Amino acid sequence: MKKVILAYSGGLDTSCIVRWLKDRDYEVICFVADLGQGLGKGEDFQAIEERALVAGASKVYIKDLQDEFIEDFVLPALKANAVYEGKYLLATALGRPLIAKYLVQIAHKEKATIVAHGCTGKGNDQVRLEVSVGILDPKLEIIAPVRNWEFKSREEEIEYAIKNNIPIDVTKKKPYSVDRNIWGISIEAGVLENLEQEPPDDVYLITKSPSNVSGYPKYIEISFEEGVPKKIDGKNYKLKSLISHLNEIGALHGIGRADLVENRLVGIKSREIYEAPAATILLTAHKEMESLALDRELAHFKEIISLKYAELVYYGLWYSSLKMALDGFVEATQSRVTGTIRLKLFKGSCIPVARSSPYSLYKKELSTYGKEDKFDQKLAEGFIKVWGMPYR
Ligand code: ARG
Repeated sequence: MKKVILAYSGGLDTSCIVRWLKDRDYEVICFVADLGQGLGKGEDFQAIEERALVAGASKVYIKDLQDEFIEDFVLPALKANAVYEGKYLLATALGRPLIAKYLVQIAHKEKATIVAHGCTGKGNDQVRLEVSVGILDPKLEIIAPVRNWEFKSREEEIEYAIKNNIPIDVTKKKPYSVDRNIWGISIEAGVLENLEQEPPDDVYLITKSPSNVSGYPKYIEISFEEGVPKKIDGKNYKLKSLISHLNEIGALHGIGRADLVENRLVGIKSREIYEAPAATILLTAHKEMESLALDRELAHFKEIISLKYAELVYYGLWYSSLKMALDGFVEATQSRVTGTIRLKLFKGSCIPVARSSPYSLYKKELSTYGKEDKFDQKLAEGFIKVWGMPYR
């Protein structure tokens, strides 16, 4: 029997895959990655393990990868200010290369030559997983049953699950397709496919509607050291609890919602709703920190790098040499990104209102219009003549 390592979520698709592969004479080992999909509320991993075994898995690996996810994937993307198409903070996209890493690792440990996943043939995630696996071990074979199995609808899958006694909660009608981790939530399908329609409030899983949140603004201070968020309101936090805490505060104030018609890698446009309270707060604060610490040329060039970085993450090229080279650039920009940003959270908006840094390049005596002015205005005349000469 050939062994296959399956990236297993516990949902309908991957549960049917376990059985489907087993029926085709594979031994199926499931791997469940905990990337914080409970966002604090605690997903029941024991139930997931149970389901995998009942579906026919010979073994289940469950790994809490939250710290590694945050350290090695989220943090570099935050330092890079990576945002896809102006709105998507890349939560789903950042998780895939990490899942791929463990699929490969477990395959090696189990001496398996095949890995499998439950992504459809229309999305970005299949590309991210397969390209990442391919970079890490090009000899591994990859199976993606959803792309070519016989089921044409969710109903047919449910029928198959029932016939095979796979314990699936089919009573709950699932109106949307959701992917979730500690950095954010991606929600698509159902009524969201009608672009003319505003998303109904039930699509949002964690954020309060900005129209029903507290009428009072909430101020918070985020402190960074070399680009890494360390404190909230002067209190030290480990990264994971810092992010969880900001998810809670942000959600209460309706922060971090986005509605994006995005360009998928496979050529289609699709509409996705995102919720990323902590990511939104941290990105806003981090960019503000950089506005003090980076000189003009570095700041402007970094914006170009941010765009490219986000594209590479979105396209599944996390382990590419270009992405790693850009990490080197980004890291080199962070040594002075230290200080504190005060933000005002109010009815869905997150706005920096005050900032300070020991490395601030802002010099009041140069920018002031008051009498402490040290800027020699006479120098401007010659500067303008030389600077504008070619255009005259
Ligand atoms: N569009 C996002 C991406 O490509 C999220 C994909 C998964 N979304 C989902 N609702 N299951 O990264």
